[in-house]
Amino acid sequence: MDYKKRIASKLKIDGISEDELYDLIALPPNTEMGDYALPCFKFAKILRKSPVMIAEELKNAFETDDVISEVSAVNGYLNFKINKEGFVRSTLDKIFAEKDGYGKSQEGNGKTICLDYSSINIAKPFHIGHLSTTVLGGALYRIFNYLGFKAVGINHLGDYGTQFGKLISAYKRWGVKEEIEKGGIRALNELYVKFHREAEAYPEYEDEARAYFKLIEQGDEECQALFHWFKDLTLKDVQRIYDMLDIRFDSYAGESFYSDKMQPVVDELKEKGLLVESRGAQVVDLEEYNMPPCIILKSDGSSLYATRDMAAAIYRKNVYDFDKCLYVVAYQQNLHFKQFFKVLEMMGKEWSKDLVHVAYGMVSLEEGTMSTRKGNVVFLEDVINKCIQKAYKIIDEKNPNLEDKEDVAKKVGVGAVIFGALYNAKIKDIVFSYDKVLNFEGETSVYVQYTCARANSVLSKGGIPETYELPELNAVEFELVKAISTFPDVVKSAAEKYEPSFIARFAVDVAQKFNKFYFDCKILAAETEKTKTFRLALTNATLQTLKNAFGLLGIGIPEKM
Ligand code: ARG
Repeated sequence: MDYKKRIASKLKIDGISEDELYDLIALPPNTEMGDYALPCFKFAKILRKSPVMIAEELKNAFETDDVISEVSAVNGYLNFKINKEGFVRSTLDKIFAEKDGYGKSQEGNGKTICLDYSSINIAKPFHIGHLSTTVLGGALYRIFNYLGFKAVGINHLGDYGTQFGKLISAYKRWGVKEEIEKGGIRALNELYVKFHREAEAYPEYEDEARAYFKLIEQGDEECQALFHWFKDLTLKDVQRIYDMLDIRFDSYAGESFYSDKMQPVVDELKEKGLLVESRGAQVVDLEEYNMPPCIILKSDGSSLYATRDMAAAIYRKNVYDFDKCLYVVAYQQNLHFKQFFKVLEMMGKEWSKDLVHVAYGMVSLEEGTMSTRKGNVVFLEDVINKCIQKAYKIIDEKNPNLEDKEDVAKKVGVGAVIFGALYNAKIKDIVFSYDKVLNFEGETSVYVQYTCARANSVLSKGGIPETYELPELNAVEFELVKAISTFPDVVKSAAEKYEPSFIARFAVDVAQKFNKFYFDCKILAAETEKTKTFRLALTNATLQTLKNAFGLLGIGIPEKM
């Protein structure tokens, strides 16, 4: 049962909708006051009364019932107490009935959301800078699916540009087929780095590279074949990482896919009188919107990143008829998205309002940052593997006799990398630290995983009860039930705000409350059989909820640790 909804539906305030009330109702920090509270400060302006008076009047008009059993007005807040027994029973029963589906909803049925994430560049390292877009996008993809939306995951590959001409030039001069086959992205990247080093002394290499790129575009057989080979090698290489992170895509239509879809965009811009010439280039002037012009065609007639993105947006609207199209891309590209969203709006695409840049902050390693050109990059795969190794070491020390240590270390290590990127609000810059993300006592995935192992162990000793009766509840038990009861709301707001961090934080909060319950309340040695059975049921419900939460983040939970 959704108690907030129930409370909201019983309140009537002129000029304020039930949804607004619903959003305002919160959990007060101190449960002595009540289980839910409605701050009345926002209504003072509309109702022209003091918040204290408003709360008092609302209280007098409110009819309590067997669920919302008490209401009080304190300092401008309306506090509600709910019938605990009814609340606990309905929460647990819902979890047991819905199991893996607890937290799911149908609210997105019939709606499509396109998600552009990870969007790697062919033949370039998949580095730590790609972590956030990949795991944020992956989590949002699962979250939207969970809420009934049709999510379309798109890897908008960076597979277009002179760098492919450079690679062909470098490969033809220095490349060894077998070595590239074996080395994958790393070998390709070495070629690319070598090209830049050498081209400083031999600038004519750059001309050659441009010529090769032209040949790719013109469909030259040999150049096309090499280009596709680079692409296949790259995708094969990153698939290992996607598998580890449980990342999926429905489409790999990248930039080159739009090669033949840009001309109509250029024509339409021309037709609508939006294209102007500026130093030989064709641009859309955005001065009115305080932005530099959006360049559509260079002076040599070649297209730009923005041109391809515009063609892609139009294509996606036509093919998927999305309700929203999200771009999970670092905030460094803020201007790019603002520009081409605006140009689409100027073209009269009313759906441009449904394009959302889901911006996130930078991830750096404690050791320092990197640059692709100089070659000192931190490969994401190395970070993940190092985390798995470190996890293995810790687990081996703590529990040398554990079965499946390798599998556990993998879940812990991979989980730590994902959680490290998802725990903070996405816009924050983060410095990735192995010690921090693998801290068993911290606000970490391994803390949550360890808590789940503890719950599993209790359940394997005490058994999973089929039915239970409610004993007299203590405050610790009640706090835990309340925490897990909010999961459907948390999933919903994570989707609304594009913030998987809400779910990560929720999981840590629930784990902390479970651990308090575990240490304060004896589960297996409870005073009565009735209490023991209830506590086992609560343990089971908590475990189920944490599993669902971690499932949405793409993190596995080992049975034992
Ligand atoms: N490949 C680009 C990069 O690494 C990101 C692409 C993001 N998606 C997009 N539709 N622009 O910077």
